[in-house]
Amino acid sequence: MRRRARAVAGRAIAYDLRVSAPLVVILAAGQGTRMRSATPKLLHQLCGLPMVAWPVAAAQAAGAAKIVVVDGPGRELESTLDGAVELAIQQRPLGTADAVKAAATHIDPAGTVIVLNGDTPLITPHTINRLAESHRRSGAAATISTAVLENASGYGRVIRAPDGTVERVVETKAPGDASELELHIREVNAGLYAFDGRALLAALEEIRSDNAQGEFYLPDVLPIIRRHERTVVAHELSDPSETLGVNDRRGLAAVRALAQQRIHDRHMLAGVTITDPAATVIDAQVRIGQDAVIAPFTSLQGATQIGPGSTVGPHATVIDSRIGEQASVLHAYVQGADVGDRVSVGPFAYLRPGAVLREGAKAGTFVEIKNSDLGAGAKVPHLSYIGDAEIGERTNIGAGTITANYDYVRKNRTTIGARVRGGVHTSLIAPVTVGDDAYTAAGSVITKDVPPGALGVARSRQENIEGYAARREQRTGPANRPSPSVDSPS
Ligand code: UD1
Ligand code: CA
Repeated sequence: MRRRARAVAGRAIAYDLRVSAPLVVILAAGQGTRMRSATPKLLHQLCGLPMVAWPVAAAQAAGAAKIVVVDGPGRELESTLDGAVELAIQQRPLGTADAVKAAATHIDPAGTVIVLNGDTPLITPHTINRLAESHRRSGAAATISTAVLENASGYGRVIRAPDGTVERVVETKAPGDASELELHIREVNAGLYAFDGRALLAALEEIRSDNAQGEFYLPDVLPIIRRHERTVVAHELSDPSETLGVNDRRGLAAVRALAQQRIHDRHMLAGVTITDPAATVIDAQVRIGQDAVIAPFTSLQGATQIGPGSTVGPHATVIDSRIGEQASVLHAYVQGADVGDRVSVGPFAYLRPGAVLREGAKAGTFVEIKNSDLGAGAKVPHLSYIGDAEIGERTNIGAGTITANYDYVRKNRTTIGARVRGGVHTSLIAPVTVGDDAYTAAGSVITKDVPPGALGVARSRQENIEGYAARREQRTGPANRPSPSVDSPS
């Protein structure tokens, strides 16, 4: 399938990565020592996805026919990758050139291969396509993406020949590779390359590791390719921020801020109000409908969906949940829940996995709901715990109702019918059923089923002891009358 032509800077460019670059190799092994982490660098989360998912998604969107991810021998990235992505294993982290070698069997000598550092997650499909296009047009054997950075420290610097082609890249991560003069160069290797397959495979055979880090540096193929009488050119990126590599956790935070900005921009341009983007976290895969309002201090995570016209926040955390249309979720923590249209949640509600709130239902203040189904229009307005329960349509649960779902052996279900009127402070000792249109009396501990239409009363009757106060005063004398606010009749 030919990818559609897009107008860029007034010019129409036709992209077709599959013709010019059938293969994208993503370098994702290596220890990531600067992260100081037990987790491999490429598995660190970036806006709700492991970092490696970003370059993979960019390569997929660019139309790559085949994507090979280079992983370490522990195959730690494998489980996070899409089935269409192939894995190549680099046995030991001997450097970026060695990592490409690990994928050598996938490289077609007659084709083009795009190589991309896995730790530069901001590279866009557009940029990959532009590189492929520029490589195809120039006819060079290697094209290296470069960017001019204010602060180039740690990056490989590009040494250009007098004719503007690329001579080599000098590394600056460890002292010893670059000279004082070379350290002044601000044009850096962005870690995204296009190669003629045959030229790359031949050059990889000649790479040596006699450098400051004792590693096989991928950019060292460039002077070798030149020695083979082939051309190496640079392709300067229009947006240098795409170059940002994640080497330590400061880099991760810097990249996250930019990735978040892209996500916010996408939603705002699609008609979502984000009142204060700087105070809002939205993961990459979250979907939000038009005219939804995301108020400050809100975090939308994982596979969350927010329906059109809903208000979420301020101070809402919504994880892997669906919120319907015109719903409102204020000061709430919602995880693994399904919140229907026009439902009201919070302020100060906790919805846990398996909470299903059907249309127009309500979970109010200091309410926790877990693994329970609230029918349309059902309300749990105040101070309640509802766990493992079914609640019918338009039922109202009294303030302070608790489902006693756990007998320290198993979880038991509570079934409450439609249009039930629950009294305040009702304890429902599961398994128990309250029929349609029934009532429970305030303060009841319901251990037996309540038939439809009945009133369940389960509390001791009130007894009034007449003349108590006077008798007590006679005994203790008026001077000792305690303050009524602290008196407890006994
Ligand atoms: C690399 C480039 C540098 C460039 C920079 C851009 C080299 C030698 N240097 O430096 O010129 O400016 O990227 O961000 O290539 N990896 C492996 N196996 C290994 C080593 C690394 O798969 O043995 C992977 C890493 O997971 C990482 C990528 O290759 O995703 C780059 O490696 P890294 O060590 O971060 O290279 P830099 O020092 O940043
Ligand atoms: Ca890096």
